[in-house]
Amino acid sequence: MNIDLSGKAALVCGGSQGIGLAAAKELAAAGACVTVLARTAPPQECGFGFLQADAQQVETLIASLEGQLGGPARFHIVVNNSGGPPPGPITEATIEQLLAAFRQHVLASHLITQWVLPGMRAAGYGRIINVISTSVREPIPGLGVSNTIRGAMAAWAKTLSREVGRWGITVNNVLPGATQTARLEAIIARKAATTSREEVERAMKAEIPLGRFGTPEEVGGVIAFLASPAASYISGVSVPVDGGRLQSV
Ligand SMILES: NC(=O)c1ccc[n+]([C@@H]2O[C@H](COP(=O)([O-])OP(=O)(O)OC[C@H]3O[C@@H](n4cnc5c(N)ncnc54)[C@H](OP(=O)(O)O)[C@@H]3O)[C@@H](O)[C@H]2O)c1
Repeated sequence: MNIDLSGKAALVCGGSQGIGLAAAKELAAAGACVTVLARTAPPQECGFGFLQADAQQVETLIASLEGQLGGPARFHIVVNNSGGPPPGPITEATIEQLLAAFRQHVLASHLITQWVLPGMRAAGYGRIINVISTSVREPIPGLGVSNTIRGAMAAWAKTLSREVGRWGITVNNVLPGATQTARLEAIIARKAATTSREEVERAMKAEIPLGRFGTPEEVGGVIAFLASPAASYISGVSVPVDGGRLQSV
């Protein structure tokens, strides 16, 4: 199986921490030259390139990236990933919250993908991997804005996969379950407002057949596989990495 990424350039959005940082490390371990896009830099010892950007600023995003790179994008792999929208019921979601999430996830991913596509076509190698959520399949109570935006991301990705396949470019989604990152910590802390942290964790793990939370590395490894030549005939799919939590077939 060929998972060698030597000579490949990867752009990992939201790669300063959590799942994105783990994906960046897995891609680098497979030989890729990694650049991270985020508002804050990844740990210096990783040796990654860094593009500073706020994915909310979609009007100026690409001009800012080109300015920092000093030219057009030349990436073989892009991981579209960003921070999750704030929690809350959909009945209380504001227009501003929905627009912000749409900008940060769908529009930023769309613009970055349009920006990298010519380079992928010229290189004859393209892997677009979107970090979304299991809520694409089964909406999660209390994450109204997130559930809504994830569905839009999945529809965007499927449409894209059908347009770019002719150039040998694949588009796939990774759907993390409960993964040990700052995002999960925030979700647990919010739930623990009315009960103990231990009880919250116990209840969450009881819904996961493997009985534990996932690690960012377990999600990052799947991203590296999808980025590799070994995944050359996989496109337009969503891969849950959730310890078996999804109940739908
Ligand atoms: N962890 C889980 O259990 C879980 C489960 C399902 C889905 N997910 C989803 O998977 C994605 C990654 O999750 P995670 O747990 O790794 O999240 P995380 O630890 O909060 O990391 C989010 C990353 O996105 C970057 N980011 C956030 N806002 C940004 C912005 N406006 N512009 C540019 N970069 C931005 C952050 O860097 P800076 O702050 O430096 O910008 C960071 O690198 C999220 O969409 C999350 O909702 C996570």
